[in-house]
Amino acid sequence: MEKNIATIILAAGLGKRMKSNVAKVLHCVAGKPMFLYPVIVAESISSGKIIVVVGHQSEKVMDAVAGRNVEMAIQAKQNGTADAVRAGMDRLKDFKGTVVILCGDVPLITPETVSRFLAVHEKDSASLTVLTTAVADPSGYGRIVRSSDGSIARIVEDRDADESTKRIREVNTGIYAFDSALLSSVICEIGADNSQKEFYLTDSIEAGLRKGLRVSAYKTDDSQEVMGINSRLELARAEGIMRKRINSRHMLGGVTFIDPESTYIDADVSIGQDVTIYPGTVIQGNTSIADGAIIYSNNRIVNSLIGAAVTIKDSCVIEDSSVGDSSQIGPFAHLRPGCTLDRNVRIGNYVELKKSVMGDGSKANHLTYLGDAEIGSGVNIGAGTITCNYDGQSKNKTVIGNDVFIGSDVQLVAPVKIGDGAFVAAGATVTNDVPPGALAISRVAQENREGWVEERKNKKSRKK
Ligand code: UD1
Ligand code: MG
Repeated sequence: MEKNIATIILAAGLGKRMKSNVAKVLHCVAGKPMFLYPVIVAESISSGKIIVVVGHQSEKVMDAVAGRNVEMAIQAKQNGTADAVRAGMDRLKDFKGTVVILCGDVPLITPETVSRFLAVHEKDSASLTVLTTAVADPSGYGRIVRSSDGSIARIVEDRDADESTKRIREVNTGIYAFDSALLSSVICEIGADNSQKEFYLTDSIEAGLRKGLRVSAYKTDDSQEVMGINSRLELARAEGIMRKRINSRHMLGGVTFIDPESTYIDADVSIGQDVTIYPGTVIQGNTSIADGAIIYSNNRIVNSLIGAAVTIKDSCVIEDSSVGDSSQIGPFAHLRPGCTLDRNVRIGNYVELKKSVMGDGSKANHLTYLGDAEIGSGVNIGAGTITCNYDGQSKNKTVIGNDVFIGSDVQLVAPVKIGDGAFVAAGATVTNDVPPGALAISRVAQENREGWVEERKNKKSRKK
């Protein structure tokens, strides 16, 4: 029979070993605060409430879970993992069933492993089961001490372990399944008689055994998954493992990576089939890339929508923008936040766009700045065109109709409107609106002085 399952996620600690002003659980793995990964695992295994215990920078931690179906419990002072669970249990007073404890600093854990662990807890009819693993370097972890019959006897923290206990390589992952009644009674009994003077949840093993209850341990072979993050070294290691997982998922989904080792994709990015990604590319946030796009080297794409069959040539930055199907961007282009490009748009070398819209088939191929511009379809923006959108006080709009031709080296002094089908001659400084179909030209008439170069030479030689 499926048991009632609630989950408590411990996320109140500062994480001193991170040497950071940012609470440990807010440090990101593949673009996501690390504690969100166990929250997502909890969402897949829990039938009851999910409680996140917060303390350090609690507001920021709460912001990171906004919109999810979780409850917060405040642990005002970080007196240890048992004290944190006590705060969480205040929210589960009427709950009867299995309480799963996950740690906010164990982000690589998967629902599959937790489900296997829960099945063992059920099969053994245990009151408490702890998830363990064997590691090559157990330093920092609580050691699993077993009795002569092989059953778990207690957990000894690294700081409190003697030399022989320190040699034990089986460690506590910080993940437990408790019968709710046992957990409620045990967390009130645990003392703080240890080197840190903290209330250790690990002491619940001995407390359960003293009550004559069944205490089990389930050892997982995948020690990578249950790695705790306490330092930046471990953070980087987790990032590497997560990156491999993410890239493998995309490759299995039909994405070609020229070099997956040097392609960095955040956890929530979605990528369509037959997309090809070259090395050095960083894709962040809620970016989505449609089928058949090609992304060449050294691009960074953040919170953006990239349409089908788009080509992004090398070394572009695209932020909070959307690029329509079959468009071409780069090399060396910068789409700053708020750009919406329709289909078949071309943005070329050294072009910067900000808060601008471009219609179907419009082009800005070389050395251009377009800011606060609304540009229709079929428009050609010549090399070196600049929207002068800032007058020192406020930002002004440039509106360009359909099928407009803007010649090279034009300054469009905003606010200004260029009507459909108008033609702006090269070198113009446009300060007044241009009517549809008109030519705008603003240049000093050219004068050619015949023989001028020869005359200058002669003048110089006379002076000597
Ligand atoms: C803990 C375990 C250790 C285990 C390891 C696995 C204890 C005493 N030790 O050690 O046996 O091998 O995890 O990774 O349980 N937290 C709170 N409030 C507190 C203290 C901690 O919410 O007062 C949270 C932290 O934010 C963190 C988690 O609990 O997410 C674990 O705390 P941490 O200080 O990292 O414990 P470890 O020393 O890693
Ligand atoms: Mg830890």
